[in-house]
Amino acid sequence: MSTEKVEIFDTTLRDGEQVPGCKLNTVQKLKIAARLDDLGVDVIEAGFPVSSPGDFQSVSEISKLVKNAAVCGLTRAVRKDIEVAAEALKYAKKPRIHTGIGTSDSHIKYKFNSTPEKIIERAKDAVAYAKTFVEDVEFYAEDAGRTNNEFLAKVCTAAVKAGATVLNIPDTTGYCLPEEYGKKIKYLKENVKGIENVRISCHCHNDLGLSTANALAGITNGARQIECTINGIGERAGNTALEEIVMILRQHPTLNFHTNINPKFLFDTSVMVSREMGMFVQPNKAIVGANAFAHSSGIHQDGVIKNRETYEIMDPADVGVTESAIVLTARSGRAALAYRAKKMGYELTKLQLDCVYNEFLNYADCRKEVVDTDIHEIVAMSRKHMAIA
Ligand code: KIV
Ligand code: ZN
Repeated sequence: MSTEKVEIFDTTLRDGEQVPGCKLNTVQKLKIAARLDDLGVDVIEAGFPVSSPGDFQSVSEISKLVKNAAVCGLTRAVRKDIEVAAEALKYAKKPRIHTGIGTSDSHIKYKFNSTPEKIIERAKDAVAYAKTFVEDVEFYAEDAGRTNNEFLAKVCTAAVKAGATVLNIPDTTGYCLPEEYGKKIKYLKENVKGIENVRISCHCHNDLGLSTANALAGITNGARQIECTINGIGERAGNTALEEIVMILRQHPTLNFHTNINPKFLFDTSVMVSREMGMFVQPNKAIVGANAFAHSSGIHQDGVIKNRETYEIMDPADVGVTESAIVLTARSGRAALAYRAKKMGYELTKLQLDCVYNEFLNYADCRKEVVDTDIHEIVAMSRKHMAIA
């Protein structure tokens, strides 16, 4: 059965780079953009060109460099922003302008001091103006997650009529529940005129830890693009993590979706982004965290040593991690200790293992983890009691 393609729109260099402390220079951005292109993302959001000369330069240089992906620049629904983005993108093989405006009641009232009718006019004008520079124009309805669906459909219909090729429905504040966000996408599919020729995109924030679940709900209800970042970095609690959504679609073939991402590059890309941005990845982060394939309790270690599938739903090699780790702690059993000792060159008989294991437990109770140098010491101490080769 053939599967449907979901486009991956990476915004590590825009939404991700907005994070305090994550600022990159142009050289660093070029390095990451080249890696994202190799990884197989469909769209690289390279920056917000009007925001600073440095951002303009980065978008322009990335446009020259990228071979496969579309390169996208963000703008507000402001003509000057659109002109600057078009200029920054002029060398891109596949340029995309990403323009839009806030559509929720609070954005209309407090941000713009405007009316729903005027917001529709600005949306229409921004898309039509962007269209005079590039063919590919993505429209975002900021805070769509908290926007009334009927009004959202009206704004989106206006954007499509003005020539939008992609409709981005951001849950800007990370407020939606998956079912609610999924229903919103379905409603738009059924109520936006001209939607047949347009791709719906999910841009979900993680304020309640639901960004990946919401993006998935969007896809299963008709969206075909996901906006995401490496390691899930982004404003406040971040965005949908690229590695998570890609692996969810891959590990669940019954969903019938595929992406263009080569998962073998996921781990290295995560390390690269973390290092360049100086943004540490939490150890328990799904897919790319240091503990994502580490087993520490005796029961789990025993299972994994017998057969990896007992406690692993994916092969670490598939995401570029060399092998699963058996971490020795006071919760580890004999099987894990024997396994690790063997890797270090110690072939222990059952009797020898009993002796080493007793010594190991004394050691482990005083430490968070027992590492290889500790094992050498433990074996040496046990030698005093028994003959160990
Ligand atoms: O979260 C958001 O709404 C955004 C838009 C600018 C696309 O990042
Ligand atoms: Zn965002």
